[in-house]
Parts: sequence; C-alpha cells; structure tokens
Amino acid sequence: MSDHASEQSGTTPAPGMVAVVGAGAMGSGIAQVAAQAGHEVVLVDARDGAAQEAVERLRSTLGRLADKGRIGADEAAAAGGRLGVAEDLRTLPSCRLVIEAVVEDLEVKREIFAALAARQDADTILASNTSSLSITAIAEGIAHPDRIIGLHFFNPPPLMRLVEVVRGARSGTDSVDDACELVRAWGKTPVRCASTPGFIVNRVARPFYGEAQRMVAEGIADAATIDAALRGAGFRMGPLELTDLIGQDVNLAVGTSVWEQTDHDARYEPTAYQQDLVARGALGRKTGHGVYRYDESDQAVDA
Ligand code: NAI
Repeated sequence: MSDHASEQSGTTPAPGMVAVVGAGAMGSGIAQVAAQAGHEVVLVDARDGAAQEAVERLRSTLGRLADKGRIGADEAAAAGGRLGVAEDLRTLPSCRLVIEAVVEDLEVKREIFAALAARQDADTILASNTSSLSITAIAEGIAHPDRIIGLHFFNPPPLMRLVEVVRGARSGTDSVDDACELVRAWGKTPVRCASTPGFIVNRVARPFYGEAQRMVAEGIADAATIDAALRGAGFRMGPLELTDLIGQDVNLAVGTSVWEQTDHDARYEPTAYQQDLVARGALGRKTGHGVYRYDESDQAVDA
C-alpha cells in the first residue's frame, strides 16, 4: 500500500492512492470527491484522451468552485494537482482502492476485475460502481474475491451523499468495513446492502420511473405535470427529469438489468416510451434533449 512509507517514518499517513476506471460522468465525479478528500487519484479510460480530458474538466470545475467561494483556492489547486491519468490497467500504480465506473455490462466489468485482480495487491479494495449488476457475478472466478465489493455512488457524486456499500456472496467483512470508513471520511453516508438486483435505491426507484413513463405514454398527464406533482409531494426531483439527469441510455440499461435478473418481473419491465427515447438519441441533458429539451446552460426549456 502506498502509505506504508509515511507510516514508518512517523509522519501523517497519506490516505492512499485511488484509481478510477472509466472517466465518464460517474468516474470523473468520484475522482473529484477522492481528490478533494486528499487522495492521489489516477483515472483510466478505454477511449484515447478521455481520462486526460476528464482531469482538465475537473480542474476547471474545481477552479469554478473556488471562484464562487464554495471551496478555498488552495484546496482547488491541491485537489487538481492530485489528479493524474494512467495509460491502461497495466500501468496503474498499487492502490488502496480501485473503483470501476465503465459501461453497465457484466462481461466488460468482469474483464476489468480480472485484470485488476492480477495486478493489484490482495488487500486492495476493488469496487464496482454498478447500479444493478451482481457483485457476486462480477467477482466469480477471480482470485481473492473477498476484496471485491460494490460502491454505488449517486449522480452527481460530489453532491450526493449516499453511497450503497454492496456485499457480494464472497465479499470480505474487512473490505466492506474499510470501504464504509473510507467513504465516511469523504463526507458521504454509507449504507450497507446485499447484492440483490438494483440494491436498495434502484429497486425502489424502477417502478417510480416506469409508472411515470407509462402515464406520459397513456396521455394521463404530461411530463412537466408529473414532475411538478412529485416535487410538490416532497421529492427533490420528479421521475422524468431525474432520468434526463441520469442519462436515458444508462437508466434503461440499469432497468433492463434489474428486469432480467428478476425473471422479467412486470414491476421492472422497461417501457416502450424510454426505449423510444434511447432509439432517437434523446439521452437527456448530455445530448441536449431527452424527456425535455435543454439550453446551453443546461436548463430545461419546456419543463
Ligand atoms: P459514462 O458513459 O458517462 O462513462 C463510462 C466511461 O467508461 C466512458 O468514458 C467510456 O469510454 C469508459 N469505458 C467503457 N468501457 C471501458 C473499458 N473497458 N475500460 C475503461 N473505460 C471504459 O457512464 P456513467 O454514467 O459514468 O456510468 C458508469 C457506471 O456507473 C455504470 O456502471 C452505471 O450503471 C453506473 N452508475 C451510473 C449512474 C448515473 O446516474 N449515470 C449512477 C450510479 C451508477
């Protein structure tokens, strides 16, 4: 582990190196959180240049937060300076924690975990940010599966406090305990749960999204009315605007995965309404239109 040297020399131990695999919406946000918490962070992505672009974006985000007075200028510069990139999984340094946040695809994730397991220490926590896939399945056939857990952050990671700490059938108690302690030190609120389809939040939220989509499709009320009603009832965001924030493609993939893992339970069945949005490339805020259309400052123009 990277903090042994400082422990031995009697100085304050560094919090340890964190690697994030997948520099998209979630991976970048998690990298920001870890860097602000004092970790050296290395990002890696399969798409050429993506990790470096994410680091540059994060540095300008940190600079903007400092300009607005939300964080100190020193903190922004220090956190920005702790962000780096690795070429690929083979060149990752030895880490305290590696978090995978690539596409929601079991085979892709299993390949990544096999590569990580072969190169990282046996006590490095290897975590997936999967929203719905089985941690038990991700860890299957991998050496030292006790170090493999789920660490499910919510979008956007710097703002959302909840982290589901997911225990697969072979996850070790030490890994789960260490991860809870670590995310608590990051200012997050860990909740422990077993690896069942959708964990806690997505299992409850699937019918929330699905019913709203079916209501729009059936002409019962339009999207803006449904979202306003749910906000009025105390939810911070309505179901339809929330799926635009998450990304319709990501949300559909998660829903499909929960549905498949529950033997096609009708409560979780993906809707034709959402499949149509994805087929049309209306993926939400990231494409400028989804359920709603968005202007350049990311505000919904027809909500
Ligand atoms: P994204 O599409 O924004 O980013 C995924 C990144 O992974 C892309 O930069 C892509 O180039 C990279 N990638 C794909 N295959 C790779 C590979 N083999 N090796 C390295 N990099 C690879 O996706 P997003 O939204 O960040 O989601 C990532 C994961 O986080 C998914 O498992 C998703 O279910 C989960 N998640 C997503 C949430 C959301 O609201 N978007 C919320 C919580 C979890």
